[in-house]
Amino acid sequence: MTEITAQATESGAASSESAGFLHLPEFNVVVAGNGAIGSAILAQLLHQPGLGRAFLLARRPETVLEDSRVTPVYVDAREPASITNAAESIGQQVGRIHLLINTIGMLHSEGHSPEKRLRDIDPEQLQRSFAINATFLPLLCQAFGSLMRHQQPAVLASLSARVGSIEDNGLGGWYSYRAAKAAQNMLLRTLSCEWKISHRNVSVVALHPGTVESRLSAPFIGKNYRKRVLTPEQSATALLEVIAQLRPGRTGEFYDWQGKPVPW
Ligand SMILES: NC(=O)c1ccc[n+]([C@@H]2O[C@H](COP(=O)([O-])OP(=O)(O)OC[C@H]3O[C@@H](n4cnc5c(N)ncnc54)[C@H](OP(=O)(O)O)[C@@H]3O)[C@@H](O)[C@H]2O)c1
Repeated sequence: MTEITAQATESGAASSESAGFLHLPEFNVVVAGNGAIGSAILAQLLHQPGLGRAFLLARRPETVLEDSRVTPVYVDAREPASITNAAESIGQQVGRIHLLINTIGMLHSEGHSPEKRLRDIDPEQLQRSFAINATFLPLLCQAFGSLMRHQQPAVLASLSARVGSIEDNGLGGWYSYRAAKAAQNMLLRTLSCEWKISHRNVSVVALHPGTVESRLSAPFIGKNYRKRVLTPEQSATALLEVIAQLRPGRTGEFYDWQGKPVPW
């Protein structure tokens, strides 16, 4: 797997080439999740030349940016019917999606911190983590697959995490999150094999966004580590730059926000 030479600009928007994002004069996007990184990605996409329609899938869609190109659509990652309903409604509004990006994820929830050791594993929490961090992705792709199958370049990108890399795991801990992200990675890689044949123009990639200020990361960022933490805007700029460099045929890969390959 080769590195992507992504250069994030300081302007807050990815430096797309003049031909437009993904080399398209016009493109439509679906962003799943309006947390810190998802919202920053959507905000930056609004500055990309050629953006047609943007659909934001969220369980509290009322918190979405006001822009006539953005349509919020209700989705709860744990309610499969909400995902199919969203795709059906979006399919009535546009014929093609060029970027489908999944930014939904969960590391901790009320009363549950990531496990430090084996005895902390709680089966319900493990299942919840899998539902949100792993199972949601293939359900999303099932629902939106037909809108991604067309003759133009397209990208399916899903925010994974370096801690989901099996090879990189030398520290342990965080059982549910690590295992669910590793499962997401395998689901995505397997899908990339299938879509090489059925969706030839779609690049399928897992992305590690860096360590980023957000509700998800806040409890785990110590004072000494703060300097190395990205703002959601910095991460979004870098991730969009990585995405903008993808071309059909470059698929089934896992990159970090700097465009460096992450071992599976
Ligand atoms: N921040 C980091 O340092 C970091 C590092 C590595 C990977 N990541 C990954 O990056 C992605 C984005 O994380 P973030 O930092 O932006 O965190 P965040 O601000 O907490 O965003 C997470 C998003 O997931 C949504 N979500 C959770 N459960 C959901 C459900 N059942 N249905 C629908 N939406 C649901 C949340 O929606 P609500 O607002 O409705 O709860 C929120 O929009 C995640 O996949 C995370 O694992 C983050």
